[in-house]
Amino acid sequence: MSTDQAVKEITTSMENLPASTQEQVEQVVDPWNVQGAIVDGKQLAIDYDRLIEQFGTRKIDEEVLQRMEKLTGRKPHVFLRRGLFFSHRELGRILDRFEQKKPFYLYTGRGPSSDSMHLGHMIPFMFCKYLQEVFDCPVVIQLTDDEKFLFKPHLKLEECIKFSRQNAKDIIAVGYNPDKTFIFSNLLHVGGEFYHNVVRISRCITYSQSKSTFGFNESDNIGKSHFVAIQAAPSFSNTFPAIFGARSDIPCLIPCAIDQDPYFRLTRDVAHKLKYPKPALIHAKFFPALQGPGTKMSASIDSSAIFMTDTAAQVKNKINRHAYSGGGATLELHREHGGNPDEDVPFQYLSFFLDNDEEINEIEKSYRAGTLSTGDLKKRCIDVLQQFVGDFQARKAAVSDEILDHFMTPRSMGVDLSSK
Ligand code: TYM
Ligand code: TRP
Repeated sequence: MSTDQAVKEITTSMENLPASTQEQVEQVVDPWNVQGAIVDGKQLAIDYDRLIEQFGTRKIDEEVLQRMEKLTGRKPHVFLRRGLFFSHRELGRILDRFEQKKPFYLYTGRGPSSDSMHLGHMIPFMFCKYLQEVFDCPVVIQLTDDEKFLFKPHLKLEECIKFSRQNAKDIIAVGYNPDKTFIFSNLLHVGGEFYHNVVRISRCITYSQSKSTFGFNESDNIGKSHFVAIQAAPSFSNTFPAIFGARSDIPCLIPCAIDQDPYFRLTRDVAHKLKYPKPALIHAKFFPALQGPGTKMSASIDSSAIFMTDTAAQVKNKINRHAYSGGGATLELHREHGGNPDEDVPFQYLSFFLDNDEEINEIEKSYRAGTLSTGDLKKRCIDVLQQFVGDFQARKAAVSDEILDHFMTPRSMGVDLSSK
């Protein structure tokens, strides 16, 4: 399904192509679909530089990394160093405020469509936690159980609410600061000042804008076209009176994967009309599916994903059985010609989860040279992911219902509301 103008340009359906070029299908990236281009029957990796051009965002370049390092006094996060977070909108404005010690906050979210989150979902949440650590600022996390109810006809309202609370425990287990993090379910929380902003936003967006941005048609339920107003509202500080009082001028930074950008393009237009600051964004690439860098890890395809509930044995089996390898077809060919880490899924997973720069460079070099075998590369990947998933499960087991209720209660976060 095509979304807005930009996405339309890259969404060329097969039927519209002349017969001679039918092997060529352009890449599609929107909140529902992520597919690399298909050329001569082969699915290519997503072309992220092209997405930057088409969505009109900015690339995270060396200059941005250096500024982050200088401001925070820490080596940039591994996701920044390895290019997983690759694009932004007006990140500089937030860094200016940090430098000037002016308040701002972070906003991210999750659509709780099941009780299990996968490794790909962890990416924005881990990064957001790092940003909270270095900026020491409030974080608001929206659980869009209402969205899942509207978009997934098989789900009951009660199930969506239940998934919200379960997913909130996963999010807490990422390690957020309990004094400065508010996690809320839309179905349980939206009202008061929050709802005031929802209707303010809703009045600024026409049906035709929502329809063309998200590709809805006449038979989609009306809740879908209105939903964007609810995902937009947390971008504005007066949506959270317990944290920001009546202040409507405190900006936010939204870490998310690039598929969520269409919502926030509309939000940024609306901000201008309502005289609120535009949200800044920092975008992640997709954590690739086990089957290869042409699609994202997805909860609806079990064999594409490593779930945060998987056992050590499941992690091992999935990597060994399903992970797409860029190695040679046989050990002899591999020794002779080397492997291709750019296409190799275990290498990519390692590059996001192995912080040690020296080790990852050494692995890349020896894999290309063919001295490191596919089996040994997979083994290292399995070790690192088993450790990560295991540590996560231990932290999650420690999240009690009391802790959950604390994170989900609106409360003051000690923001200096007199600071302009
Ligand atoms: P949802 O639940 O589909 O996804 C939650 C977050 O995870 C990102 N994501 C991924 N990142 C990397 N690799 C992947 N394979 C992968 N799959 C998903 C998503 O981009 C998202 O950042 N409508 C939203 C919920 C939401 C939200 C927000 C997200 C509400 N407000 C503000 C980001 C920011 C949703 O259904 O996300
Ligand atoms: N991720 C949702 C899905 O899989 C779609 C979606 C994400 C969405 N964000 C949204 C829909 C915001 C409407 C508004 O169904």
